[in-house]
Amino acid sequence: MLPAEFLSSATLSNPFKGPALPEFAFAGRSNVGKSSLINFLTGRKHLARVSATPGKTQTLNYYRVEGQWYLVDLPGYGYARTGKTEKKAFGRLIQHYLLHSTNLYCVFVLLDSRLPPQPVDIDFITWLGTNKIPLALVLTKTDKLSANQLSVNRKRLETELQQYWLALPPLFVTSSLRKSGRKELLAFIHKALMQS
Ligand code: GTP
Ligand code: MG
Repeated sequence: MLPAEFLSSATLSNPFKGPALPEFAFAGRSNVGKSSLINFLTGRKHLARVSATPGKTQTLNYYRVEGQWYLVDLPGYGYARTGKTEKKAFGRLIQHYLLHSTNLYCVFVLLDSRLPPQPVDIDFITWLGTNKIPLALVLTKTDKLSANQLSVNRKRLETELQQYWLALPPLFVTSSLRKSGRKELLAFIHKALMQS
């Protein structure tokens, strides 16, 4: 278990006012497993609210971990409450935060390992690249598919991204249910903190 505490929620009109520390943000489509991953990483069952209803997290939620860095849970993107089709957009709050946060070390883009690359995810990753925002990819819910299916989907994602990127961003394979991928993700975060 990692020492972790919820500090506060921020919005555009109510920005975060806590002490400045390195920030690692978690982004992804609604329901991809962001809050579950945060609980899994910190080893705390109920730190972040997990829900079967998409769109639960509507604010930037700051968790201070090990007393020295923030894990920032971003609202899910690509979810339209009323529309039948997914809204192909990531909200103003997300964009504003990512463009203006001065302590952002890395954005982890969570992707559902069961699905082929989704247009909104590719748009988001490309937008991060264009704006020179450091990112890493995290495949979630890998317990839901076989090793073979996982490797096929991973390859498909990499092939798609290679159309836009010379070098692929770091990629992590996780399951919050089976508790896999935690060591690698935390090692990546700790390394980034050491290099700062
Ligand atoms: P929003 O806050 O709405 O954007 O969702 P979120 O991305 O925070 O997703 P959340 O962690 O709330 O999880 C959504 C659903 O996926 C829940 O029913 C979780 O139990 C389930 N889930 C999350 N991670 C895993 C996983 O690793 N494996 C499996 N099988 N289910 C998972
Ligand atoms: Mg959430």
